[in-house]
Amino acid sequence: MNRFVKVAETVEFSTRRSMRVTIENVDIALFAVDGQFHAVQNDCPHQHFSSLHDGILNGREITCPMHGWTFDLASGQATVGGGKLKRYAVKVVGDDILVEAPSDEPDWVKK
Ligand code: FES
Repeated sequence: MNRFVKVAETVEFSTRRSMRVTIENVDIALFAVDGQFHAVQNDCPHQHFSSLHDGILNGREITCPMHGWTFDLASGQATVGGGKLKRYAVKVVGDDILVEAPSDEPDWVKK
């Protein structure tokens, strides 16, 4: 069963469309598109810069600010360049935005 972690509140997206969040040392880019939230790995598959949260958002597509590779946030699939972004499920509970944790167990459980 997936764990979800609160990363932000919906009010934080009243003036922005993207945010960098970290869950247990995993860097994640969170985007708001037409009232829906999408969470993907923040590091670009091209040269692994963790800057997709600073990319150019055009509809559901995010363009990496480094060299222009582009990805569909709904599938994670590249539309320019190559590779695929790992996606994380997002839930909104009240005013809270929760993102699927990258692993089944929190760090403090792991040995
Ligand atoms: S690092 Fe993203 S396109 Fe090169």
